Amino acid sequence: MKRQDIAKAARSSRFPKSIFFGYYGALLLLSGVHIGLLLGMQEAHFHAILIIIVILVYWALVAGGLTLYTRIQVRKTYEIPMLRLAEATAKIADGDFSARVAPVSKHEKLDYLDVMIEDFNKMAEELSSIETLRVDFFSNVSHEIKTPIAVIQNSAEMLRNPGLTAEKQQEYVDTITNSAKRLNTLITNILKLNKLERQTITPHISEFDLCEQLVQSALLFESVWEDKGIEFEADIADERRMITADSELLPLVWNNLLSNAFKFTDKGGTVILREYSENGKAVIGVEDSGCGMDEHTKKHIFDKFYQGDTSHSTEGNGLGLALALRVIQMSGGSIDVESRPGKGTRFIVKLNI
Ligand SMILES: Nc1ncnc2c1ncn2[C@@H]1O[C@H](COP(=O)(O)OP(=O)(O)OP(=O)(O)O)[C@@H](O)[C@H]1O
Ligand SMILES: [Mg+2]
Repeated sequence: MKRQDIAKAARSSRFPKSIFFGYYGALLLLSGVHIGLLLGMQEAHFHAILIIIVILVYWALVAGGLTLYTRIQVRKTYEIPMLRLAEATAKIADGDFSARVAPVSKHEKLDYLDVMIEDFNKMAEELSSIETLRVDFFSNVSHEIKTPIAVIQNSAEMLRNPGLTAEKQQEYVDTITNSAKRLNTLITNILKLNKLERQTITPHISEFDLCEQLVQSALLFESVWEDKGIEFEADIADERRMITADSELLPLVWNNLLSNAFKFTDKGGTVILREYSENGKAVIGVEDSGCGMDEHTKKHIFDKFYQGDTSHSTEGNGLGLALALRVIQMSGGSIDVESRPGKGTRFIVKLNI
């Protein structure tokens, strides 16, 4: 049931017919008993005073019964749920976001309290998912920072060894430099993502040539495709494609898509960068003949710190696509992925021209 429907149902229960007929029937029955008692006592020639006393006691018992009934009802429908709500609120205030309150009424007769309880549960759920994200984020960051620091520490200790050959020394120095670079990239990416998420980077919109930007990004990977023996093809349909967007943010997208394509493609594979226009949009495709992804990986690639290779032995921290997605969202574009394990992957970005 939707929230509006619940509120509507709650409003329509302002004059509950079932309660009306319940009371009506009970009162008729009780006055029947009253008349019965009266007639019976008159028939038996009871003293008038005694009759009055019996009738008064009878109605006192009825009033007592009704008071008890109302008290139980108030306790059941109002006090207990309010108490449960208060307990759950206190739990949430203490940081236990798993607290939930069970609805009071059955689904077909929800009232305002149920609407409130439902909203409370929704709030608790939201808070708990934010908390999970926060905890995951910190544990991921700590893990990603700890690994290169451990490598640096280890290599530095090895360098202390006086009997090291010049070659070995160089190897340890290289390891230290690489780990320091990795840490640097990680921190830079976290800061970028943080700024993008808080919208503190407002896009600096200008008109620029997308084709030239794509070629510039691709050229950064020249040594990679040469070293890895990957065939790279740039299939750019237009000579110039002027688009209006943030020319400084978008290279983050191209660089990450291309770096992924080269990273996940082995020697002898192909990477193709495409650009064309379709239905008034600029379409940019990055295709590779690499390892591809299964459905589970595909679902999570835009999550922060997610890496398909859970051992995290491949380069990177799993922040690239989270950053790329944010930039594309801020640019009003879209990103799609098609991939098959062992066959390859194709990312398609669409931007307004
Ligand atoms: N072209 C691709 N082929 C196969 N898997 C890919 C491809 N692109 C992304 N992935 C999967 O998505 C994951 C997340 O990619 P993302 O770019 O966010 O992180 P990363 O490349 O591992 O690290 P970073 O970008 O921070 O250096 C990758 O670890 C990989 O499992
Ligand atoms: Mg990446």
